[in-house]
Amino acid sequence: MLRKAQHQVDTDQPAVEACGLVKEFGETRAVDGISLAVPAGSIYGMLGPNGAGKTTALRMLLGIIDPTSGTRRLLGHERPLDAASGVGYLPEERGLYPSMTARDAIGFMGALRGLPLKEGRRRADDLLAGHGLGKWARKPIRNLSKGMAQTVQLLGTIVHRPRLIVLDEPFSGLDAINQAKLEELIRAEARDGVTVIFSTHVIAHAERLCERIAIIAGGKIAFEGGVDEARDRLRPIVRLRTRSDDGPWRSAIPANAVRERGEWVFELPTGGPEPLLKALLDGNAGIETLAIERPGLHEAFVAIAGDAAAAQMGDQGEPS
Ligand SMILES: Nc1ncnc2c1ncn2[C@@H]1O[C@H](COP(=O)(O)OP(=O)(O)OP(=O)(O)O)[C@@H](O)[C@H]1O
Ligand SMILES: [Mg+2]
Repeated sequence: MLRKAQHQVDTDQPAVEACGLVKEFGETRAVDGISLAVPAGSIYGMLGPNGAGKTTALRMLLGIIDPTSGTRRLLGHERPLDAASGVGYLPEERGLYPSMTARDAIGFMGALRGLPLKEGRRRADDLLAGHGLGKWARKPIRNLSKGMAQTVQLLGTIVHRPRLIVLDEPFSGLDAINQAKLEELIRAEARDGVTVIFSTHVIAHAERLCERIAIIAGGKIAFEGGVDEARDRLRPIVRLRTRSDDGPWRSAIPANAVRERGEWVFELPTGGPEPLLKALLDGNAGIETLAIERPGLHEAFVAIAGDAAAAQMGDQGEPS
């Protein structure tokens, strides 16, 4: 049965906007002028290597720390803390009181966001049962495994039914089954009109879930846009196996092609597949197998984040 959407989504206004956000910690410029807009009701991924500035950017967006310069707007509020009751946040460093029971922990987290404690505990029972943790509801957190405690913290993040959920590395520490469950939870929230922002190192999650992503490298946005747009930054890859070893068809193979397990592997030339095919056929290559693959988000991420890192190295001069 379809759930009724919890939230009216005003798609005209982004759920989150940042304009020129900068954060300096002493000498370190952790975030170096980030601007982005997260469409209301979307699932938005923040990708970037370790130390890129993702956590710092998320903390500034949420009003946990103030930017050195720049502005942000959260659910229409200039001061992010004014939106606090509509926001759920799973921080990167997890932590629950070990002596609290799972249901109390969730109720407590809801109360911090303005949900009456009694209602929070009632919802906690339903949420825990719905996530296979019903029998742990009245057990202290210290009795739970790390992954189970993380699920409890996640449920505490959504118990007050926020309009915006911000999850910092939510998949780390979860097994494959719980990662799949978390993906489903994120999709269900988005179907209900909730905006979800998450950071991750595992590109596959973002590829499956996100409409838009930001790739952050060295505190700057190296890419912001749709997942398909990022993938289209790279040319398709050709994998070709031929019966013939040599012949006139070889002129169709670019000079930078590599050999991998008996196959030629190269970027599809800018003319597209037809001139390549014609040259192979006319030159009697004897095509055994030919595949033209669209690069995934992982390859796009590595190329975009790598290019950004190389450009920043250039900014700073060659390392000695
Ligand atoms: N409170 C702080 N004081 C000093 N430096 C900080 C502080 N917080 C972050 N930094 C620095 O800012 C930079 C960005 O850190 P941040 O935690 O935002 O990166 P991240 O992209 O979340 O990395 P990760 O993928 O490892 O979680 C790093 O160089 C880090 O050392
Ligand atoms: Mg981080």
